[in-house]
Amino acid sequence: MKSIRLDKLLASENLGSRKEVAKLIKAGLVTVNGEVAVKADMKIDTAACTVTVNGEAVEYREHVYIMMNKPAGVVSATEDNRDATVLDILPPDMLRKNLFPAGRLDKDTTGLLIITDDGAFAHRMLSPKSHIYKIYEAALEKPVTDEDIKAFEAGISFGGEEYAPAKLSAGDASKSPSGYMAVVMIREGKFHQVKRMFEARGNRVLALKRAAIGGLKLDENLAQGESKYLTSKELSTLL
Ligand code: URA
Repeated sequence: MKSIRLDKLLASENLGSRKEVAKLIKAGLVTVNGEVAVKADMKIDTAACTVTVNGEAVEYREHVYIMMNKPAGVVSATEDNRDATVLDILPPDMLRKNLFPAGRLDKDTTGLLIITDDGAFAHRMLSPKSHIYKIYEAALEKPVTDEDIKAFEAGISFGGEEYAPAKLSAGDASKSPSGYMAVVMIREGKFHQVKRMFEARGNRVLALKRAAIGGLKLDENLAQGESKYLTSKELSTLL
C-alpha cells in the first residue's frame, strides 16, 4: 500500500501548488471515496481511494514516463537562459513537478527523448553498465567504410576521450540529403559522442536523430515536438 498526503497527491498531478490545492480542499471541491475532504494532510491509500476534484476523478501516478520526438532548436535541460527547453514545449497538461530529460540530446539532434520524474529509472537507463543501446541515424558527409565499422567495433580514442565499442552499419541512404546514412548503436552517452566518433574517422555528421533506446523505438506517429505517455508495456521494452 502506498499512502500519500492528499495535498501532495493533488499537487503532483499538476492541479496546483500545495497552497492552491489546499484552497480547493477548503472550498469543498475535493472528494475522497465520495466524501468531501476536509483535511489537506489526510492520508490517501493510492490503491484503494478514489479522489475527485470538481467531480473529475484524479488518477495518481507515482512517476510518469514521456516519449518526446525532440525537434531541433530546443535544449535537453530543465531550464536555460537563452533557448527553449524540452520542458517548455511539453503540453501544459503533461507538466508536473520534478520532470527532467533522461539523458541529453544536442540542441540540433532530433528524435527519441524520455522525460520523467523517476531518477532511479533514468540512472538505470543511462548507465553503460545496464547495456542498453541507444540507436542513432546519422546523415553523413561521406560514406561509411569497412574500416569505420571495424574502428567503431574496437572502440575509439579521440580528443582525450575513450569511446566504448559501438556498432556501425550503413543506413537508408534515401533518408539523407547527402545520400550517406549510418546507423550507430552506443551504450554510453558522452558529450557529442556520435559526432566525435565520426570526426575521429575524418567524416562529419550533418544531421542526427535518435531512433531507439533499447527495444523502444521512436513512435513514428509523433510529429517533431510532440509527446506522449509511455505505456507500461513500452516502458518494459526500454529496460
Ligand atoms: N551523440 C551526439 O553527438 N549528439 C547527440 O545528441 C547524441 C549522441
